[in-house]
Amino acid sequence: MAVIMNKKFLVRSFGCQMNKLDSSLVVNSFTQSGFELTEDIGATDVVLVNTCSVRNHAEERVLSMLGHLKHIKKTNPHLIVAVFGCMAQRRKEDLLNHPVVNIVCGPLQIPQLVNLVNNAIENTKKQKAVSENIRHKPLPKSLASLDDFEQDYDSVEEHLPAQAFVRVMHGCDNFCSYCVVPYVRGPEVSRPPEKIITQIKKLVDTGVKQVTLLGQTVNSYQHENMSFADLLYEVSKIDGLEWIKFVTCYPRDFDERIFKAMIDLPKICRYLHIPAQSGSDRILKAMNRGYTAEQYLEIIYKAKDIVPDIAVAGDFIVGFPSETDEDFQKTVELVQKAKYKNSFVFKYSPRPGTRANEKLADDVPNEVKKQRNIDLLAVQEKISAEINQAFVGRTLKVMVDGVSKKGHLDIAHKKEHTQLIGRSAGDYIVVFDGLANLAGQFIDVNITRASALTLFGKI
Ligand code: 5AD
Ligand code: SF4
Repeated sequence: MAVIMNKKFLVRSFGCQMNKLDSSLVVNSFTQSGFELTEDIGATDVVLVNTCSVRNHAEERVLSMLGHLKHIKKTNPHLIVAVFGCMAQRRKEDLLNHPVVNIVCGPLQIPQLVNLVNNAIENTKKQKAVSENIRHKPLPKSLASLDDFEQDYDSVEEHLPAQAFVRVMHGCDNFCSYCVVPYVRGPEVSRPPEKIITQIKKLVDTGVKQVTLLGQTVNSYQHENMSFADLLYEVSKIDGLEWIKFVTCYPRDFDERIFKAMIDLPKICRYLHIPAQSGSDRILKAMNRGYTAEQYLEIIYKAKDIVPDIAVAGDFIVGFPSETDEDFQKTVELVQKAKYKNSFVFKYSPRPGTRANEKLADDVPNEVKKQRNIDLLAVQEKISAEINQAFVGRTLKVMVDGVSKKGHLDIAHKKEHTQLIGRSAGDYIVVFDGLANLAGQFIDVNITRASALTLFGKI
C-alpha cells in the first residue's frame, strides 16, 4: 500500500516585524494541521508568500519571486502558490489572475489560510479571501478569530530563542499621506488586555524571557479604560518575564506615563522607536503627520529628561513630493538634535490609493532621493559612532540572539567558541565570542570596541 506523505510547505516572508509575526503564526498553524515545513523549493507542495506593500520595491520582489515560481511550476504543476498579507489585500484579483497564483489571502484572513490551501489541493480552483471594504471595522467574529489564531499559534521565535513578538493592536487610523498601511491592514483595533496577558503568560511558561509588543502605533493602544501605559504596568507583573520592548510609537498625543513606566518598571526596556519622517514643517504637513518638528523634538527632550539613558531610533522618508534642499536640511538638523542611536532612511515611493500619490507629483528625481538617503545616513552614522563609543569600557546586559551570521568558528578557542550576537535593553547590537548554547540567555558583556553599527565586547 502506498504511504501517504504529509504535504510539504515553504514560507517566504517580506516586510516588517508584523509580517514576521504573521509568518511564524502561519508556520505553526500549518505544522499543527499536519503539513511539514521544508526549505527545499524543488520538493515542496505549497509555497506561501507573505507580502509587503509599503514601498514599490517590496512588491517588485514578490513579483520577481512569482516569476521564478513559474519555472518551478513547469516541473511541478501541482504546486500550490498562496500569496498573503498586505500586497494580497491591495492587489486582490489582479494577483489572483497571475498565472502561478492559486490563493490570495489578506492580512485579516490569515486564520483561513490552511483551509484555503486544503481547498485548492482538493478542487484546484483559485481561492480568494480578502476584505472587500478594508476600512470597515472588522466584525467581532473576525476579530475573535484573529485573537484565537494568535493565542493558538504564537510561539517562541525559532531563530531567537526565549523571545516572542505579541501584537497588541491591528491596523492604523493615521492616514499619513504616503502610507498604504491603513488601506491594507484596516482600522486600528486594540486587542483586549486579558487576551494579551494570557498569551504572554503562556509564552513565558514555554521559556520566553523577552516580549516585544507590536503595533503600528503602540502608544495609542486603548482598550476601554486601558491605555498603553496601563498595559505596560499589567504586562510587567508577569512572573518570569524579564524584558519588555515595544514598537512602533507615533509622535503625537504622547502619554508621558509611558516614560514614567520605563523608570518605575525595571522590565521595560529603555528604547523608543519613534519615526519623525521629516524635519520640515511644510513636508510634515503634506505628510499629514499632525505635528511640527519642534513638537516632535519636545517629545524626544521630554523622554530624555525623564529617562536619561533612553535610546531613540527614527525613520525618515527622503524625496517626498516637493521636498527642497532646504526642507532636507531641516531633516538633517532634526537628526542632529534628536541624537538617534540609529535611523532608518527610505526613498519616497508613491503608493496607489494614498493621498500623496493622488494629489502630489513624485517630482524629486531618483538621483536626488538617492543622494539625500546617502547624506542623511552619513549624518546619522557620525552620531551613532559617537553614541556607541561612549559604551566602551562599560558592561551591558545582553539578550543573546544566537550565532552571528558573519561569525566563524574560532579554531583557537575550540569547544565551538563562536561569534555571538545579541541586543541590549536599549536595542544596541552587541557582538562577542561565546558558546552557541548561550542563545536565549541574558549575559553581561564588557564592551571593548565600537563601530557606528555594532558594539563589540567580551564575556
Ligand atoms: N515610501 C517610502 N517610505 C515609506 N514608509 C512608509 N510608506 C512609505 C512610502 N510610501 C516608511 C516610513 C515608515 C516605514 C515603516 O516605512 O518611514 O516609518
Ligand atoms: Fe503608515 Fe502613518 Fe499608520 Fe505609520 S502611522 S502605519 S506611517 S499611516
